[in-house]
Amino acid sequence: MPAGFQKLGGERITGTLALSVFTAVLGSLQFGYNIGVVNAPQKIIEQDYNSTWMERYAEPIPPQTLTSLWSLSVAIFSIGGMLSSFSVGILSEFFGRRKAMLINNVLAFIGGGLMGMSKISRSFEMMILGRFTIGAYCGLASGLVPMYVGEIAPTTLRGALGTLHQLAIVTGILMAQILGLESLLGSEQLWPVLLGVTILPTVLQMTLLPFCPESPRFLYIVRSQEHHAKSALRRLTGRLEVSEDFAEMKEEKRKMDMERKVSIAELFRSPLYQQPIIISILLQLSQQLSGINAIFYYSTDIFKNAGVESPVYATIGAGVVNCAFTIVSLFLVERMGRRTLHMLGLAGMCICAILMTIALTLLETVPSMSYLSIMAIFGFVGFFEVGPGPIPWFFVAELFSQGPRPAAIAVAGCSNWTANFLIGMSFQYVANLCGPYVFLIFALLLLFFLVFTFFRVPETRGKTFDQISATFHRHPQNMMDMDLDMDQGKHSTELDYLGSDGT
Ligand code: GLC
Repeated sequence: MPAGFQKLGGERITGTLALSVFTAVLGSLQFGYNIGVVNAPQKIIEQDYNSTWMERYAEPIPPQTLTSLWSLSVAIFSIGGMLSSFSVGILSEFFGRRKAMLINNVLAFIGGGLMGMSKISRSFEMMILGRFTIGAYCGLASGLVPMYVGEIAPTTLRGALGTLHQLAIVTGILMAQILGLESLLGSEQLWPVLLGVTILPTVLQMTLLPFCPESPRFLYIVRSQEHHAKSALRRLTGRLEVSEDFAEMKEEKRKMDMERKVSIAELFRSPLYQQPIIISILLQLSQQLSGINAIFYYSTDIFKNAGVESPVYATIGAGVVNCAFTIVSLFLVERMGRRTLHMLGLAGMCICAILMTIALTLLETVPSMSYLSIMAIFGFVGFFEVGPGPIPWFFVAELFSQGPRPAAIAVAGCSNWTANFLIGMSFQYVANLCGPYVFLIFALLLLFFLVFTFFRVPETRGKTFDQISATFHRHPQNMMDMDLDMDQGKHSTELDYLGSDGT
């Protein structure tokens, strides 16, 4: 845990808080690992699909069938995620956040096991089913982790700790890129280990979860277990006296008890939730439709087309930039705020997408343009991690109070995974159609999301959940009133205002 955190938020990071966040984000690590893992060993696994086909039908696999089987193996991961992310709300309410994470590990075991055993069993069906199951695991993790971390984090560190979810994702991607090198695990013999090794963080998470407290907000606000909630809060804060934190939760519970239970349909019907749910969905779309996964799924190909000499190493370079800038965001998010960083990231990505288009257009005549395209892609990835990467994940948990939060996270997660699937499936076709202009589409989308964020997305830094939702209650039509707190002075005035009136 970076020492700067303590100064940053003025809050103490206790051992229990650090352990709980670390344990939770092991799920995010697997999410990232399984995004990145199929990129490098594609050709080698395809050879195995072919030899299985030969054994079964005594003829080589038709190229079209092989392409379809491989695309399915890659994309079915997002379908698993899409379907399971929708049940995040139900599971987290029924079992609690911690137990839901624990149970989710069953999916990781099955998924990792199926993929790891598929070569020995000579079955590409097992591999495809394994990708689906691990996708389902990741879909649940992508909702449960930010929810748990957001609920146990002190207000002043919610953004920084929330960013750790993304940091673990990008670390997972990088680990997969490196382990996937042919000289390591990406070889003909060892690829099943590369895919099956995802079980290791699962074992670690299952061992550690029993030592982590359940979310006190869940215990008290949902389950009305005051005693358990207080002891969890004491463990997390390291303080015996927790009445201040508890008073805030009490207020939230009082309000929640007055409301009806919030269903997914209600999120769209009720004027109280309409604005925040639209913002949540659009932020998730801004993350995926920025085109980031076009890079993470197809970077090797993109670099090759851009005339880069060692595309695999350039891909690993992109992974390193990805990690480095997530760390930058970790330290900026509580200083500069979510809104500013998100806009900065979108604007930077938009410029890089334009540079990439220029590089690809001029490549024929100016071969050194391949350097510009490397820089453009590194810049694209770097700006992504400044804002659009980490922020949408934890922002949804911030925009909603305890009642509607699980339903909102399910809807947002499902939008994210759907868009992820669309980009994964369509990028190669669109790239063939548009040639060097494919990144212009992303530039236009990025511009749209930038304008949307400017006009519609509020700042949530430093506010309690109650204060954030109070703002929507007060100004369901005009969030710009809340947005303007970009300077600290206005920020605190507004908090006073909300504190005295929002309750
Ligand atoms: C975010 C996205 C994920 C993407 C990753 C790249 O976590 O949700 O789809 O692959 O960032 O770093």
